[in-house]
Amino acid sequence: QYVPVITLDGPSASGKGTIARLVSQALGFHYLDSGALYRLVALAAMKRGVDAGDEQGVVGIARSLDVSFADSSIRLDGIDVSDEIRAEACGEYASKIAQYSALRVELLERQRDLRKLPGLVADGRDMGSVIFPDATLKIYLTANEEERARRRHKQLMEKGINASIAHLVLALRERDERDSKRVASPLQQCEDTRLLDTTGLNIDQVVGKVLGMYADSG
Ligand code: C5P
Repeated sequence: QYVPVITLDGPSASGKGTIARLVSQALGFHYLDSGALYRLVALAAMKRGVDAGDEQGVVGIARSLDVSFADSSIRLDGIDVSDEIRAEACGEYASKIAQYSALRVELLERQRDLRKLPGLVADGRDMGSVIFPDATLKIYLTANEEERARRRHKQLMEKGINASIAHLVLALRERDERDSKRVASPLQQCEDTRLLDTTGLNIDQVVGKVLGMYADSG
């Protein structure tokens, strides 16, 4: 039986997580935050003192990862780390280890297993290109650099984390470059993917556009 999937891929801080969650709620679908998986491996590796350059060590961590993905909280070894994994240092580390194809293979089935009726909304970098190539609707979500940095800044401030916008612009640029240029499942806009530029749009407008595209895709 075909289980519908909507994939939202795109650069850092493009609003993928917020939009994917709201679209999944509107449709009553499950939600996969694939970046959280990479961030969880990153956090576990950092806590255990594994260097980002140690591919074997990182893959070993992923293999033994004890995570629970309840909808509202993300737990590592039973502890709620939903906020901790959002730190920029964790995103940085995640983007470094995300280059290892052995790690990506290790996480593949964990992601595909979440595809269940009535459907799934998945956000990340390779959701449409690698994990769910037969997705019902594939979207490449983006916004200009400044707006993405401002959004990330707001998100961090709300969590009580300080950061300057200028620094965030540079950090996001560096991360997106690494994610786009890597050999293993790079971030890219594929031919069968619809571009959705959210610069200047508010959250409701973007959610409306995605739902409209989905309604048209059947
Ligand atoms: O989306 P988020 O910022 O949480 O992702 C953190 C990092 O995890 C990204 O910069 C990227 O390197 C990696 N990632 C990935 N593939 C995905 C999701 C995230 O490589 N599907």
